[in-house]
Amino acid sequence: MSYTANNSRYQTMKYNRLGNSGLKLSALSLGLWHNFGGGADSVTINEILRTAFDNGITHFDLANNYGPPPGSAEENFGKILKKDFKNYRDEIIISSKAGYFMWEGPYGEWGSKKYLTASLDQSLRRTGLEYFDIFYHHRPDDNTDLEETACALDLFVRQGKALYIGVSNYSAQQTESIIKIFNELKTPFVIHQPKYSLLNRWVEDGLSDVLTKHKKGMIAFSPLAQGMLTDRYLKGIPDDSRVRTSHFLKEEQVNSDLPKIIALNEIAKKRGQSLAQMSIAWLLNKPYITSVLIGVSKVEQLKDNLKAIENTVFSEEELREIDKILK
Ligand SMILES: NC(=O)c1ccc[n+]([C@@H]2O[C@H](COP(=O)([O-])OP(=O)(O)OC[C@H]3O[C@@H](n4cnc5c(N)ncnc54)[C@H](OP(=O)(O)O)[C@@H]3O)[C@@H](O)[C@H]2O)c1
Repeated sequence: MSYTANNSRYQTMKYNRLGNSGLKLSALSLGLWHNFGGGADSVTINEILRTAFDNGITHFDLANNYGPPPGSAEENFGKILKKDFKNYRDEIIISSKAGYFMWEGPYGEWGSKKYLTASLDQSLRRTGLEYFDIFYHHRPDDNTDLEETACALDLFVRQGKALYIGVSNYSAQQTESIIKIFNELKTPFVIHQPKYSLLNRWVEDGLSDVLTKHKKGMIAFSPLAQGMLTDRYLKGIPDDSRVRTSHFLKEEQVNSDLPKIIALNEIAKKRGQSLAQMSIAWLLNKPYITSVLIGVSKVEQLKDNLKAIENTVFSEEELREIDKILK
């Protein structure tokens, strides 16, 4: 059946400006790293994407290597885009990235102009898009001059293959350095995508200050620590969970963080939220956060997470209690 988006989709979602740019992102964004690859059930991924857009999520995040196999998430998204969302392209922000390994030989990863150019062209072909709204360098490359990477990204904007530029996994110092080059080039660099959650707060040691100083946005990835900051592992390790279905989350990690997760869950209950909702709300409470980039394997998880925006206010006492648990 052809898809018509929900008429009230813009009524409850919040839209936050990316720094001082003209662009706004939905407070929640959806990432396609897991669960959208070659083996994914097409009915489920269709339902997840429709539910997201029907509830005001306008931003969908991809990368060249998302799958498995690498590239398949872009291919699947491209098919759904063509079938369901082609009339809504101007209401959607689609990002992709290059930086991690994609193909054999010396030009298949990192930050050279050669790799980035080829990878962006491949991503456009896989998705069937004419341009990405945001294109990221996925990880810093210590062996390539930062100017080469920055100039390649700048060129993509001038060629019309990307509207805005972002970086991901760059340290505070690396971000400061590349912003200087982007400023000289007048590149529309607008966003940093770091890993950030209650269980991983590295951005608070410098990166958040750099982005605030330069009026750039921040979108937090793995905000639920890949599912640990939800009720997923409170009663053991389910067979269909990321621990069992992917090598990116290890059982030992869940077990070692479990006491913190249980204690955080008690605070969430007192706030009348699920642990997932509180974890997202805690991020949205930070003034430097533009959007929280979630992943989901089921539509029910998405519906649970969408309710996070109903309460993003924390009392001083709640914040103190949370900090005490995380020490
Ligand atoms: N830039 C980078 O280097 C980088 C790296 C990683 C991710 N990312 C981006 O960030 C996005 C999100 O990353 P992520 O998938 O790790 O995010 P996440 O939101 O921390 O974890 C998502 C997982 O949490 C579980 N979950 C989500 N909501 C739930 C709920 N309400 N109740 C119970 N369980 C719930 C599901 O796990 P189960 O699968 O077990 O059900 C889901 O797959 C990615 O898709 C990608 O776009 C970027």
